[in-house]
Amino acid sequence: MYGNIFSEDTASFFRSPVREIFKKVDLNSIYSFAGGYPSAETFPLEEIRKTMAEVIDRYGGKAFQYGATQGVPELREAVAARYGVPVERVQITSSSQQGIDVCTRVLVDPGDVVLTSNPSYLGALQSFCSYRADIRGVAHNDDLEAFRADYEKVIAQVKAEGKTVKFLYMIPDFQNPSGESLTLEERRMLVDLAARHGFLIIEDSPYRELRYEGEHIPTMYSLDPDRVIHLGSFSKIFAPGFRLGWALAHPDILDKIYVCKQSLDLCPPIFDQYVAAEFLSSGRLDENLVRTIALYKGKRDLLLGLLEEHMPAGVRWTHPEGGLFLFLTMPEGFDAVKFYDRALDAGVAYVAGEFFHPDRSGKNTMRLNFSFMSPERITEGVRLLAALLCAEISDIQ
Ligand SMILES: Cc1ncc(COP(=O)(O)O)c(C=O)c1O
Repeated sequence: MYGNIFSEDTASFFRSPVREIFKKVDLNSIYSFAGGYPSAETFPLEEIRKTMAEVIDRYGGKAFQYGATQGVPELREAVAARYGVPVERVQITSSSQQGIDVCTRVLVDPGDVVLTSNPSYLGALQSFCSYRADIRGVAHNDDLEAFRADYEKVIAQVKAEGKTVKFLYMIPDFQNPSGESLTLEERRMLVDLAARHGFLIIEDSPYRELRYEGEHIPTMYSLDPDRVIHLGSFSKIFAPGFRLGWALAHPDILDKIYVCKQSLDLCPPIFDQYVAAEFLSSGRLDENLVRTIALYKGKRDLLLGLLEEHMPAGVRWTHPEGGLFLFLTMPEGFDAVKFYDRALDAGVAYVAGEFFHPDRSGKNTMRLNFSFMSPERITEGVRLLAALLCAEISDIQ
């Protein structure tokens, strides 16, 4: 009916297959390893209720007024103190998804190249496509020199085509979808690469504080604060419904983001920011985080144990030290997109790994989430998925 009234940009939008899955099924009626939802058990409802009342008592109508585009000073200061950065390097965002989108908007012209890992976060790929970026994915390589060479090769190719790399998008901590992290040496190598070739790095790190074992690895931002934009989020450490996150960057970069955000949303949600600021500075966020980490660690361990016990030979998986996901690789020839309807009919959902690969490789992979379901449902869900996979894999072998 509307013919060609829509902008050319809309032609490069694509729908999230994860959200399409949610439309088809009621998540509570199946065993869902599909979404990236936190467990609702981690939302500290009583504490939130108390904090909301405190915010209304303290700020009155100001809590419901428009506010500064950079974010309310209380939250910017709390974030600056937590991450040890000057407050002028903190921009509050309406969640890290907005952070990704706004960074892309201020950096990318149609045809500019964005480098990412292969696989990478679907929501970021959606943003890059919507600004008509040319996305080049580079697979992880355990050999540092080979990893560097793989990037150098892609960058040389981009230059030969007369194009420009604007930024590298990375999720160094407990990546979505793989669950894996970059080592310190890999982070250094990538920061060095960006400096030599003159592009920026967007370090998207919503899972960083959900570490269940091992030592924290310095952020890429800490290695080069003028070249790296660090994106953080309250979604996984507090509650996604607040839609709040932050960007740490050089003030010149933040200034562009600031002007861009004026036309996007004027300011992040004010009441939510005061609640988050109060939660952070009173220590309630950290107290809740300790409980959240214990809960998720238990679920991760459970899932790893169940996979070991039930998965057929030929299936491999990652061992994430934190975050919400792990990644399964089936034997060559397995097609996780085709297999999906059979799994869903049997009552179990996952996300096919192919969707996360900008080059549409990874057909034999799938992402499993372990934060959302109860331990009982994780157990039943893995048994069911493993039984289905046993039948499927013996057919293709
Ligand atoms: C890597 C990554 N970045 C960003 C987001 C978006 O998070 P939010 O917009 O809720 O902060 C997600 C959500 O799952 C994610 O996995």
